[in-house]
Amino acid sequence: MGNSKIARENLAKQIKNGAVILHSGSIVYRNNDTWYPFRQDSNFYYLTEWPEPDAHAVILIKDSEPELHLFVQDRNEEMETWEGKRLGQSGAVDDYEALKAYSFQDYEKILPNLLRGFNDIYCDYSSNNFEKYDKKVLTHAVPYDQRGTDFSNATLYSLQPLISELRLIKSDGEIELLTKACDITVEGHIHAMKTANAGMYEYQVGAEMERIFYDRGAERLGYPSIVAGGHNACILHYSTNRDQLDEGSLLLIDAAAEYGMYSSDVTRTFPVSGKFTSPQKDVYEEVLKVQNEGIEGVVVGNSMKEVHQQTIKTLSESLVNLKLVPLGVEETISMMHFFEFFMHGTGHWLGLDVHDAGSNEVNGQPRAFEHGMVTTIEPGIYVRPTKPVIEFPLLERDPNEIRERRKIMGMEKATKLEKEEMMNAKTVKHEIPKDLLGIGVRIEDDIVCTNNGPMNLTENAPKTIEEIEAVTA
Ligand code: GLY
Ligand code: MN
Ligand code: MN
Repeated sequence: MGNSKIARENLAKQIKNGAVILHSGSIVYRNNDTWYPFRQDSNFYYLTEWPEPDAHAVILIKDSEPELHLFVQDRNEEMETWEGKRLGQSGAVDDYEALKAYSFQDYEKILPNLLRGFNDIYCDYSSNNFEKYDKKVLTHAVPYDQRGTDFSNATLYSLQPLISELRLIKSDGEIELLTKACDITVEGHIHAMKTANAGMYEYQVGAEMERIFYDRGAERLGYPSIVAGGHNACILHYSTNRDQLDEGSLLLIDAAAEYGMYSSDVTRTFPVSGKFTSPQKDVYEEVLKVQNEGIEGVVVGNSMKEVHQQTIKTLSESLVNLKLVPLGVEETISMMHFFEFFMHGTGHWLGLDVHDAGSNEVNGQPRAFEHGMVTTIEPGIYVRPTKPVIEFPLLERDPNEIRERRKIMGMEKATKLEKEEMMNAKTVKHEIPKDLLGIGVRIEDDIVCTNNGPMNLTENAPKTIEEIEAVTA
């Protein structure tokens, strides 16, 4: 339980004096005596590592020292016969470092006593269970109308900003788990490259890959596998995976194992029949160049914003090289013509969640990378088969201004105005090279920022054309 102990200690240093309340996840009913597989709430797990549903954690912090109190499901032979073993209160104390453990049923009764004397109370508003439990209990424990009961001085704060900051910087123990998740994921991707063949269905390749994940110890997937053959690669979150693979097409796989609750996130794009065609190679080489450059940008002091801007610049050069855009590099950037082919971010934080906790800005400024942060780098070029001719608007568009305007006007009004501006702008018609239509390429790796530079946890997944063809041929 070392990782959560470190996390509680770090949290206690921030809060100094106060109480923190968190809730576990719950079992979600599916239908007729069937439930969705349970996964613990990530914030709750981060601070407790408690694996069961229906639990509450109260962390009392005095002079920067945390004390863990856990409310857990009671042992119950009959229930355990149906649902599996419960750790119970003794498990919470003996194995999960709770100072005290209580019955889940007694939360309402005991919480006010635990909170007595604490003026600052931090709640996890992001948990679905905040509404269910805290709203009611805290209404008694911390009267909103401040009418002078024992807790009338207490103030409720959101735990979110604090825990997000903590989760951004991974401890050595967390990096170990992420490394294992990444190793397993890489093995699965290599197996998929070896296995995929024309005539197979996307789900069959997915099953082969996922078998390796589970066989190597993954508890579950980090997210639903995207196994996208041919044109399907141009659908960013494609996950139906029901199509048959065609000879000569590319297969984009964005899939990852979760290990010890930590998720990897890897994309590789490779030729189903073993060899890239010439147009596929052209697009692939450009994305690879951009992606390698992005990885180099994950250094202390740089920011994701800078990496993204550099990605857009190099990728726009690629789009010009590939004749996918009508004008030069400058206009491709300033008129956002790149957005037709690259319409997502360059990366996101990675950890307990595939899109992990942590903001990209601090006080309105781009957040600088620090040692221990983990991010994906995942540029792509998607040439949609449905758009053989594109009318590109001749309109200067500054993403910063668009964002500011959205903040000021509100999303609905601002996007309406954006659409109007686009509709009224002059356009230039551009024919997309026919041999590129339907090609979608994304390459994604998981990068730890360290004081010694970027560390690629997924570098063993074949990535150059030579490496890939050596495996697929
Ligand atoms: N697999 C989800 C993503 O790449 O963000
Ligand atoms: Mn990703
Ligand atoms: Mn991904």
